[in-house]
Amino acid sequence: MTSRFDDIQDLVLKDARKEYSETTIDFFMNPRNHGPMEDADGFGTVTGPCGDTMNMWIRVKDGIIEKASFTTDGCGTSIASASMATVMVTGKTLEEASLIGQNDVLSALGGLPLESEHCAALASRVIRAAIKDL
Ligand code: FES
Repeated sequence: MTSRFDDIQDLVLKDARKEYSETTIDFFMNPRNHGPMEDADGFGTVTGPCGDTMNMWIRVKDGIIEKASFTTDGCGTSIASASMATVMVTGKTLEEASLIGQNDVLSALGGLPLESEHCAALASRVIRAAIKDL
């Protein structure tokens, strides 16, 4: 038996699926690597033109990003973008990670609506900010 809450959630999801990919919805609803990291080697913070701020922490060993995490006060797509960025940088060299751009984040998410594409740009900028802090 489904509850009224489940029914409402199904309706909201049905609506969201018209605009967002399954991956974006998943990364928004179950964000990977969310939260500050205490033993980080690098920390980056970037505020976009929209006024939202993204923070990223990275831990690096032998030039490889071992772990990354994020927080943001932004919208759902900024949560999905930042979370995807943390997954994308993990296991990469610093050089590989610094080359991740807006389009890479967009592709990994399966695209975003045009008006939200800048969230992916913010995620790629915060990667570079965290690397620069090392
Ligand atoms: S609207 Fe600002 S990061 Fe998404």
